[in-house]
Amino acid sequence: MSLKPRQAFMNTISSFSDYQQHYNRSIENPEAFWEDVANNFVWKKKWSKVLEWDFHKPEVKWFIGGKLNITENCIDRHLPKKANHTAIIWEPNDPKDEAKKITYQTLHDEVCKVANMLKANGIRKGDRVCIYMPMVPELAYAILGCARIGAVHSVVFAGFSAGSLVDRINDSGCKLVITADGTVRGDKKIELKAIVDEALKKCPSIERTIVLSRTSKLPFMKEGRDVWWHDEIKNVDAHCPAEAMDSEDLLFILYTSGSTGKPKGMVHTCGGYMVYTTYTFQTVFQYQEGQVYWCTADVGWITGHSYIIYAPLCAGATTVIFEGIPSYPDMGRFWQAIERHKVNIFYTAPTAIRSLEKAPLSFVERSDLSSLKILGSVGEPINEEAWHWYNKNIGKGKCPIVDTWWQTETAGFMISPIAHVTPLKPAHATLPLPGVQPAIMDENGKEVEGNNTEGRLTIKFPWPAIARTIYGDHQRFRDTYFSTFPGKYFTGDGCKRDENGYYRITGRVDDIIIVSGHNLGTAEIESAIDEHSAVCETAVVGFPHDIKGQGIYAFVICYNKPNEEDKLRNEIRETVSKIIGPISKPDKIQFVSGLPKTRSGKIMRRILRKVAEGDTSNLGDTTTLLDPSIVDEIKAGAL
Ligand code: PRX
Repeated sequence: MSLKPRQAFMNTISSFSDYQQHYNRSIENPEAFWEDVANNFVWKKKWSKVLEWDFHKPEVKWFIGGKLNITENCIDRHLPKKANHTAIIWEPNDPKDEAKKITYQTLHDEVCKVANMLKANGIRKGDRVCIYMPMVPELAYAILGCARIGAVHSVVFAGFSAGSLVDRINDSGCKLVITADGTVRGDKKIELKAIVDEALKKCPSIERTIVLSRTSKLPFMKEGRDVWWHDEIKNVDAHCPAEAMDSEDLLFILYTSGSTGKPKGMVHTCGGYMVYTTYTFQTVFQYQEGQVYWCTADVGWITGHSYIIYAPLCAGATTVIFEGIPSYPDMGRFWQAIERHKVNIFYTAPTAIRSLEKAPLSFVERSDLSSLKILGSVGEPINEEAWHWYNKNIGKGKCPIVDTWWQTETAGFMISPIAHVTPLKPAHATLPLPGVQPAIMDENGKEVEGNNTEGRLTIKFPWPAIARTIYGDHQRFRDTYFSTFPGKYFTGDGCKRDENGYYRITGRVDDIIIVSGHNLGTAEIESAIDEHSAVCETAVVGFPHDIKGQGIYAFVICYNKPNEEDKLRNEIRETVSKIIGPISKPDKIQFVSGLPKTRSGKIMRRILRKVAEGDTSNLGDTTTLLDPSIVDEIKAGAL
């Protein structure tokens, strides 16, 4: 099939009645609907069947028999008309350094070089490659270079510790790590290579490390294992044929927290992922040719995979990669970068909005934000106050805010307004996108129909980008997502549906907490705290936090009553930071002599959550506890 680009493909919903028509068609005939969308891409071979699925097994396959390479869709097909258009704008950590503009032609050449560099270092289709890098253009080249040759990338957020890296590398049996000497975030420097070295002591599958020079530090380089990016890239060609991938071949693995201590390697495949993420990007943001789009997430999370790299590039957009943090060198950094690059679409997280909202408004007012057309929010429920601040001060009341609800597992937006199409309601993700069939379930596992309801959010029909499995553990995939409500995908979220059918996500109903938009498993934090030699047992819950959305509250039992509580608290925080990473450090640590357990030994987290929330007036029935008196002690010591 040809590599001819199509103009403005898929921007076909321009009114609410269009949305309703598309939505209805997508439900009545999903196969025909998605086939039409998929026809907008470059396939090396057309599929023979659109969909096969069974949520009981569970098994989902889209565009069966189709062959493609996502990088041809992200890059090559744009070259005839857009070789000199900017694909990526890189905004460095320090605003005094020069921003870089990378054209589609340069992107092509750099990606091909990385692909050839990987091949020269022994990587073949199907091999797993771990990417642990700063937010630099080479991170995009690394991801796309893997996809070019069919290697499966597993990006690990560069804020994770050596221990987290070990778990992720070993779980997926990576052969190679791409990293950098270091990274700079604000005024902090992190020596990434030293963390990798620490991790690799426990990762026997790694044969090679490719190290990018970012901070010009000279790290330890292990003879025979570690090579420099700049040395390797010198010797390779800027052309590399794109491997023909089956629709259902693995594109990447991305780890997300689970309700046991072990992170889950979510598996996404080539065809459905490409079609769905690009369709939702075009539809929700109503992306227009030539616009500058900026998503502030880190590429280490799904938001960065789908909506910094793959979907914007597939759509031929200009996408910003930002290396820094919102508060460096001051709280006006986002707004200055919007002015500098004349950003039209700005997509960030409620936690960032809430922290910037606290700074004087002069930080916003000194920048010209008139280029902005559309704003977005992701990662956690956006509270009404933050929504209004964002709308008034950043959007100047003229930019729709798309509150996009989705997950690592869904890979793309699921419930979200469509910009300029869906009437907005603050703090509501509003309506399902075409192809998405939500169902709200009650505690007895029955679907609750109609409006003005609430319950647990499930999805009853597959969409093209649904995760196919948990790497190496299909049983866990089934147990986690398809067993609570048999025949349906369970999201783990609670939600309300209002009188107009609008959805409002109310938060997790399982043992996952969302801290600054990051999905953290309480079990993983508990087991990290338990690693401290003074700690006997721990229970972790979330509590409302005015900037992070949720904070981490740990109830800790020690072997001996601690003498210096604050010193021990600091040590525990450091332990967690070392084992998982700084994002998982508990905000509050309360030392207790026991936990509220049932006679069967289950911790009643409901009680701990209430204490953490500071609401101890009604703790519900505590008579089934093994030792009800412990509750009084915990209440009295609440922080
Ligand atoms: O609880 C929901 C919350 O984030 C969870 C998914 O986290 P993760 O897999 O890390 O992906 C984050 C980026 C998509 C969801 O189960 N969440 C995400 N977006 C929203 C949200 N909660 C409310 N509103 C949202 N817009």
